[in-house]
Amino acid sequence: MTTQSYQKLRIAVVGLRFGGAFAPIYHAHPDVEYVAICDSDRQRLNRYGDKFGFERRYTDLADILRSDEYDAVHLVTPIHLHARQTLDVLHAGKHCASTVPMAVSLEDLRQIVLAEKQSKRNYMMMETAVYTYPFLLAKQMHANGEFGRIQFLRGAHYQDMDNWPDYWMGLPPMHYATHAISPLLAIAGTRAVKVHCFGSGVMNDSHIGQYGNPYPVETAIFQLEQPNLSAEVTRTLFETARGYMENFNIYGDKSSIEWQMEHDPQVLFRMGPKQPGKPRPMAVERITAPPRPDLLPAELARYITHQVEPDPNNPHQSVLQGNGHHGSHPHLVHEFVRSIVEQRKPAIDAVTAANWTAAGICAHESAMNGGKEVIIPSFE
Ligand SMILES: NC(=O)c1ccc[n+]([C@@H]2O[C@H](COP(=O)([O-])OP(=O)(O)OC[C@H]3O[C@@H](n4cnc5c(N)ncnc54)[C@H](O)[C@@H]3O)[C@@H](O)[C@H]2O)c1
Repeated sequence: MTTQSYQKLRIAVVGLRFGGAFAPIYHAHPDVEYVAICDSDRQRLNRYGDKFGFERRYTDLADILRSDEYDAVHLVTPIHLHARQTLDVLHAGKHCASTVPMAVSLEDLRQIVLAEKQSKRNYMMMETAVYTYPFLLAKQMHANGEFGRIQFLRGAHYQDMDNWPDYWMGLPPMHYATHAISPLLAIAGTRAVKVHCFGSGVMNDSHIGQYGNPYPVETAIFQLEQPNLSAEVTRTLFETARGYMENFNIYGDKSSIEWQMEHDPQVLFRMGPKQPGKPRPMAVERITAPPRPDLLPAELARYITHQVEPDPNNPHQSVLQGNGHHGSHPHLVHEFVRSIVEQRKPAIDAVTAANWTAAGICAHESAMNGGKEVIIPSFE
């Protein structure tokens, strides 16, 4: 945790495809002085900078790390660069936000946890799935005791990655499972301690990549540290006819919530009172989670719902629009920025991020060993 005080933060956003959605939000944040953009693709850098008016431009992260003009870096680069770049940012004495996943090996997770401690800088994993409107609503319902005792959790992330950049081809599905795992661990306030996972399906030859992973689908059951609680998680990446969705389902002894379709309301089940000689009644209701501008500074509230014409050059279609990933982007930016200004840990610090990410890494190890039990290390 940082002990340095700041009036206003100087930020660099690195990687401008998905990262393009974040630079304008930092720019609008009242605690940010200025924002630089960085992308190794100079054409993309200049196209983006010209279109959205960013003058500070870099093609090499090293130049930002050498400069004393920046306090914090937000990495939105390809997956296998995250660990190395995060370590470089922290070792350079700058705060680091990183898109998911934190890393793809347990050793890299350990190194980042250590670097966060030693550098006394903040690390935050920018997990969109725990700042969506539905998750913010579920969190509030849980705090109000509406689910009662949580009995079981289930999550899934379905996404077909055909024709995405090469590094996605053959990626172990559980190496990118934080969107499905994190909401479950976050709502229960615990970590996963043990996993059994199975690979499933047959991968088309054109999707077999460099990772030695034969599975387009992986499905896991986790034992959680909280007694009497398990969670089930499924990830699909290829050859599976299911529309995109990152969902969480919470089953309590008073009520349960299921998120079944990406853009549909959630389904809420409420258990009625016990009745002699009869099954308990179960009320079923559709609920729509509201946006939460009240959790943001006024300058960021528009990024929850603001939309512009989709950019045909950007598959994320979320440049300048904050409502990608169900309104989560401005909340993530605000939490990262305020954690630094308030000199406190961010909500998803290195230990939390490592616990969430390790669950998926260990799940893939289990799948590669026929579903054998794998103990998930703790990063406390
Ligand atoms: N919901 C979410 O949290 C979410 C959604 C989408 C993507 N992501 C993550 O965001 C990351 C980026 O996703 P994407 O789809 O934009 O990837 P991408 O590969 O399409 O784009 C990456 C960008 O980073 C640039 N880049 C590559 N190496 C660089 C370097 N060394 N220095 C500076 N720039 C570099 C590339 O030129 C490109 O513009 C991925 O790690 C992905 O896991 C997270």
